[in-house]
Amino acid sequence: MHDSTKIIRSTLTRAVAGEPLHPSPVFAAPFHTPGDPNDAPYSYARSHNPTWTVLERAIGQMESGVFAPSHADAGKPYRANALVFASGMAACASVFGAVLHPGDVVVMPANAYFAARQLMQDYFVKMGIVIRFAPTAGDAQGEQLDGARLLWIESPSNPLMEVCDIAALCERAHRAGALVAVDNTTATPLGQRTLALGADFAVASDTKSMTGHSDIVLGHVATRDRELLQQIEQWRTLMGGILGPMEAWLALRSIATLPLRLERSSANAQRIAEYLATRTDVVHGVLYPGLPSHPGHALATRQMQYFGAILSFHLADKSAAETFFAKAKLITESTSFGGTCTCAERRARWGGDAVPEGFIRLSAGLENIDDLLEDIAQALDSLKPAAVR
Ligand SMILES: Cc1ncc(COP(=O)(O)O)c(C=O)c1O
Repeated sequence: MHDSTKIIRSTLTRAVAGEPLHPSPVFAAPFHTPGDPNDAPYSYARSHNPTWTVLERAIGQMESGVFAPSHADAGKPYRANALVFASGMAACASVFGAVLHPGDVVVMPANAYFAARQLMQDYFVKMGIVIRFAPTAGDAQGEQLDGARLLWIESPSNPLMEVCDIAALCERAHRAGALVAVDNTTATPLGQRTLALGADFAVASDTKSMTGHSDIVLGHVATRDRELLQQIEQWRTLMGGILGPMEAWLALRSIATLPLRLERSSANAQRIAEYLATRTDVVHGVLYPGLPSHPGHALATRQMQYFGAILSFHLADKSAAETFFAKAKLITESTSFGGTCTCAERRARWGGDAVPEGFIRLSAGLENIDDLLEDIAQALDSLKPAAVR
C-alpha cells in the first residue's frame, strides 16, 4: 500500500453500522476506573486519551512505514511508537529531559532551530549538560561525537536549508555510543523517514507541514525502542504540558491530506526556487534542496521523498525585503511554514538566526503556481538591482 492510502485508512474507525467514519474528540479528565486502575484502558487524561491514541497510531505508522488499522485493538490502550505533545518544543524538550544527565555531551547543529538551541543553552547547560555546536553542512557534527550522549540533527535545517547525511551520521554516532534524534519538522515523516535512516528518535513540530492548516500547535516524538518510549512518556506525564483532545482531533483530520499537501507544496516550492534562481538581477543565494545547484542536492535526493515547502533567498537588504512584501499580494507575511497559503518572512527580524537583513524564508502553499509566479515576478520587478549587504 502507498503512503496516502495507509494514512487515510489509519484515521478511520471500525466499520460498525451507524457509527461515524472518523473518531470524535473524547473530552475527559478522569475515566471510569473501578478497582485496579491498571485494568482500565484509560484512567486520567494527563497520561493518555483515546483521541491521542488514534493520532499516535497514525503518526507512528507514518514514521515506521508499518500499517495498522486505527481500530485494530479498539478498547485497549494501544502502544504506538509515537507520542504526541502540546508543541514541537515540548517534544524536543522531552528528548533532552529524558535522556540527558549532568555531565552529558550533546552535539547540536550550529544553525539548529533557534528555540531548541536557546532551551539547551539557557536551561540544560545550567543542569550540567555540555553542548558542542557544529554546522549541519558537510556532516561536520560527525567530528564532534567523541564521548557524546546525544547527537541532535536537523536536516534540512531551518532556515538555512543545510542538509547532512543522516544515515552516515547515525552510524558514526552509534559507533561512538551516542543516541541520535532528528528534528524532522521541515521534511515531515513522509518527506524523510529518519527512523529508517537509523535515528533513535524522530522529533517534529507538527504545527507546520504535518498538520498544515496554520491552526494548531503540536509536536511528536517517535522511537522504535520501547524503553526510550517509556522514558519519553513518563517525562510527558510528569511535566504535564499536554495537548487537548480538540487539537488531537484537528490534527487527525489534517494528516490525512499530508501526501496531497506535501506533493503540491513541494512542486510549488521547486518552481518558485527555479524562478528565483533566474532573477539574478535582484535575488541572491536561493537555497532549496530540490535545486541541482544546492550543495546538498545529491544527498537530499537520496534520503528525501519530497524536498518540502520551504526555501530561502536574499534580497539586497531590509528595505528591499520590506518592499517585496508590500508589493506581493499572494505572499502572507508571517512566521511558521507548511500551511495552505504561501507565507514568508524576513528572518533577521527575530534576531535568533545568523542571517543577513535581506534574508527571506518562504513557505510555498497550495495555490496555483502560475498565480504565485506572476505575483512574485511583479513584486521583484519593483526592486532595484543592488548588491547584497
Ligand atoms: C525545526 C523546528 N523544530 C522545532 C520547532 C518548534 O515547534 P513549535 O513551534 O511547534 O513548538 C520549530 C518551530 O518553528 C522548528 O522550525
